[in-house]
Amino acid sequence: MNIPFPARAALAIAVACALPACDRGPAPASTTATTPTATATGNPPAASAGPAADPALLKQAQTLFKPIPEKAPDPAGNPVTPEKIALGKMLYFDGRLSSSGVISCNSCHNLGMGGIDGVPTSIGHGFQKGPRNAPTVYNAVFNIAQFWDGRAEDLKAQAKGPVQAAVEMNNKPEAVETVLNSMPGYVAAFKGAFPGEAKPVSFDNMAKAIEAFEATLITPGAPFDKFLQGDDRALSADQQAGLKLFIDKGCSACHAGVNLGGQAYFPFGVIHKPADDVRPIGDMGRFKVTQAKTDEYVFRAAPLRNVAVTAPYFHSGKVWKLQDAVTIMGDAQLGATLTPAEAEKIHLFLHALTAPMPQVAYPQLPERDDRTPTPPGY
Ligand code: HEC
Ligand code: HEC
Repeated sequence: MNIPFPARAALAIAVACALPACDRGPAPASTTATTPTATATGNPPAASAGPAADPALLKQAQTLFKPIPEKAPDPAGNPVTPEKIALGKMLYFDGRLSSSGVISCNSCHNLGMGGIDGVPTSIGHGFQKGPRNAPTVYNAVFNIAQFWDGRAEDLKAQAKGPVQAAVEMNNKPEAVETVLNSMPGYVAAFKGAFPGEAKPVSFDNMAKAIEAFEATLITPGAPFDKFLQGDDRALSADQQAGLKLFIDKGCSACHAGVNLGGQAYFPFGVIHKPADDVRPIGDMGRFKVTQAKTDEYVFRAAPLRNVAVTAPYFHSGKVWKLQDAVTIMGDAQLGATLTPAEAEKIHLFLHALTAPMPQVAYPQLPERDDRTPTPPGY
């Protein structure tokens, strides 16, 4: 997908600044909804968490955001089949795709932990620390492009990156193909997933199978999805107030759509430069991808689905508390000083984006063969 990036960023700022939030200070208190206080305790854990929402708020939310569908559309050029998904799942959990034999996709995108590794920046091959925080793989299929800087156009392009990155899995495509070809279990699984192909076991097909599996890693059913589907009591009173602030302050100018983000690129620091530890000077974001001056420190607006369970935050992974991330965003992107009460309400709203995670049964991986290369260094 080709996005005219500098144009996008410029447009993005224009969009963000068309909102009243860009040229005003803290919003007058009257813009904060004073919905009745939540009676969270005593409420059944069912869908009805709060009082009926203002119909105008529900309508506005429905125009800005979309619920996560029960099934993701098939990735472009890669029809999904049960065989492909099953193979992709094996590959996702198999450390033998890495040169050390132990680092799998799941090492850094732990499906039992929100699809992340929970450290500021990932630890990969030889315990090297990578430069960026690992984003979640859950719902990644809905992002317009992959990585903090959007440098991979889709999940199959993305999947080839970590296998080869020196600080991640540190492997070579030919070496991966040799390992996979050595195991009859994999050869049969590739044949089943890519029927009729002359060379089913290939690095490209590895990436396609992983993409097919990742397209199943979606999380419908968050309270906010129920709200968008018309359950006007799905959010607590505080969450409704947080949603209103999220829209009124201008967060939704960048964080909208099905993933509340993941769709466009913006400077991190539209109004104020974030602190150097939060936005390290060495990582210029999209500038490295496009070499355009206007792309300095431009990043993809982070998708916010399940954000409450994916700390630490930002591409630097330097911020552990979601409230702090909210306050930093208000200042850096909108020039709005959020009061602690406002940041707290937005933060409570962001908790309504946490959905039940899919049950993923750990796959049995094909056994090694005498031909399977031994991991180096033993
Ligand atoms: C050593 C840790 C590590 C391993 C192993 C790893 N990743 Fe990642 N992954 C990361 C980091 C860090 C990023 C962000 C890098 C960036 O933006 O420059 C990332 C980004 C991603 C993204 C983009 C998500 C988004 O919202 O942009 C996807 C999808 C993903 N990885 C899937 C995979 C798959 C599939 C594998 C296995 C083939 C894998 N990763 C292996 C650390 C890892
Ligand atoms: C001008 C666009 C823009 C606006 C407005 C904006 N954001 Fe962001 N947001 C971004 C970008 C870009 C990032 C990625 C920053 C980075 O590189 O780490 C981000 C990251 C985040 C993160 C970190 C997510 C993670 O997984 O690390 C949170 C939380 C967040 N934004 C919430 C908000 C809230 C709340 C508001 C309103 C107060 C807001 N944003 C306003 C563009 C924006």
